[in-house]
Amino acid sequence: MNKVLSIVTILVFVNCNYQEDKSIKAAVVSARIEASNIGIEVIAKGGNAFDAMIATDLALSVCYPNAGNLAGGGFLVYRTSDGSFGSLDYREKAPSLSSRDMYLDSEGNVIEGISTLGGLAIGVPGTIAGLFEVHEKFGTLPWNELIQPAIDLATNGYVVTKKQSNSFKNKKEEFIKVNGENTFYAKNYDEGDIIINLPLANTLKLIQQNGKAGFYKGINAQRLTKRVKNAGGIITEEDLKNYSPVWRDPVQFQYKELTITSMGPPSSGGVCLGQMLQMIEPFDIKKYGHNSVESIQLMVEAERRTYADRSEYLGDPDFVNIPQSELMDSTYLTNRMKSFNWDNASLSSDINPGKVIINESEETTHYSIIDKEGNAVSVTTTLNGSYGSKVYVEDGGYFLNNEMDDFSSKPGVPNMFGLLGSEANSILPGKRMLSSMTPTIVDKNKKLYMILGTPGGSTIITSVFQTILNAYEFDMGMQESVNSARFHHQWMPDVIILEPKQFDSDLISNLNNKGYNIEERLSRIIGRVDAIMIDDNGIITTGADPRGDDSSSTLR
Ligand code: DON
Repeated sequence: MNKVLSIVTILVFVNCNYQEDKSIKAAVVSARIEASNIGIEVIAKGGNAFDAMIATDLALSVCYPNAGNLAGGGFLVYRTSDGSFGSLDYREKAPSLSSRDMYLDSEGNVIEGISTLGGLAIGVPGTIAGLFEVHEKFGTLPWNELIQPAIDLATNGYVVTKKQSNSFKNKKEEFIKVNGENTFYAKNYDEGDIIINLPLANTLKLIQQNGKAGFYKGINAQRLTKRVKNAGGIITEEDLKNYSPVWRDPVQFQYKELTITSMGPPSSGGVCLGQMLQMIEPFDIKKYGHNSVESIQLMVEAERRTYADRSEYLGDPDFVNIPQSELMDSTYLTNRMKSFNWDNASLSSDINPGKVIINESEETTHYSIIDKEGNAVSVTTTLNGSYGSKVYVEDGGYFLNNEMDDFSSKPGVPNMFGLLGSEANSILPGKRMLSSMTPTIVDKNKKLYMILGTPGGSTIITSVFQTILNAYEFDMGMQESVNSARFHHQWMPDVIILEPKQFDSDLISNLNNKGYNIEERLSRIIGRVDAIMIDDNGIITTGADPRGDDSSSTLR
């Protein structure tokens, strides 16, 4: 074990549970304890939240390979201690050889599976370019030091958890189907086994020695493109060389005394979250009570209308004009809710995307970080599906994403999250696919209040929506807000998904009687929110989602 790591660990208190302690100075909440520890150790060494982001992210690429990644993409939303906000888009891009109808057969029907499994599903990765961009702008510790803990983790190994062992076993057949019998993850990894991944350690060393070029050029670029080609994909070395992330203005809006800052297009997260919160703002949701029939109704109706707009208007802002301010306009949103009534559910088939007047204009992972100075980092990163396209670069030690499925293969045909899209999200070379990732930072009365986000595909936005309301409207602490039972509606299909065994039968029949469609067979765990709260007295508390192996590490 790396010496720096073990010495610093002594200074760090690790706790997966609810924490309330005046003396917490910094916190990292992520999907794995190893990654949270590595992040907080960087802060203990004098690094800032951005340094910790880089180390945490790279650690997740080792010990959380279903979503942590070198060959995926993500979004950062940040707030510096002086109150300035920004966001970085390092989302994957469609390869230069991609085309609008690439997933359709000669009759114009979608060919099932090719946008999710195998070579054609892969978008040009953005993660490493994104981390370098962050380092250049905000990093204080040398890159060399920030990547070293991930190299050590890959070299010395990490312990497989029970949930992780199940995840590897569930996907084993697909790993073999795509990569052959001898692929690295074809072995049966049981709980407690240690996984050492030397090819991955070597890829990380290439990046350590050669910087961004260690991934996007030279040996790694050759390996990656060769593997993509063998798997039937179209990414070229030129595509890798040309990839660049983009600093974008985040989406910002008010909800009562909160200022919410979240990711703008090509994520739908910020705009949709803004629509939902502003649609419910005129109602006194607190009065209805948490997860009551009324509050579920109200939120579901806001969700239904929001996801209808998402399907029509949102896409990559570098390619399409998005009527962002019109979609978030309060008069528009109030009008949108006029068809809602308390007695009967609206029907999704009656709700079309709104008419705005256009002025020109299982698995992802989220981690939240606050450092000693009060800089806040909110990052959601993904391969899209669990282990992405399942295409594995054996000699590089990593999986490739299947982010191309986030495009709309054909209007009216849902993607793997059941989401519909329009021309705004059609495939074009170099375009970014629409996302639901919603890394978010909330201020209350101009002071940092919450840092949060989650995986969960289309359910990401509604999970963030609920977690903010749990804390702010229903007075829950951070951990309780995260633990609390979730529900989801996304316009189409017209059903409410509830987390299993969390909602009583009276509530369900009450909603059924009003015309809400609840299919218990669709019940599933929704999201894994990792969040940090700073209360009015400056006390920091954390919420690591017990639905996963998520864990908070704090520095006192
Ligand atoms: O960007 C998106 O919206 C999706 N690729 C996120 C995928 C995801 O959250 C899968 N996790 N459960």
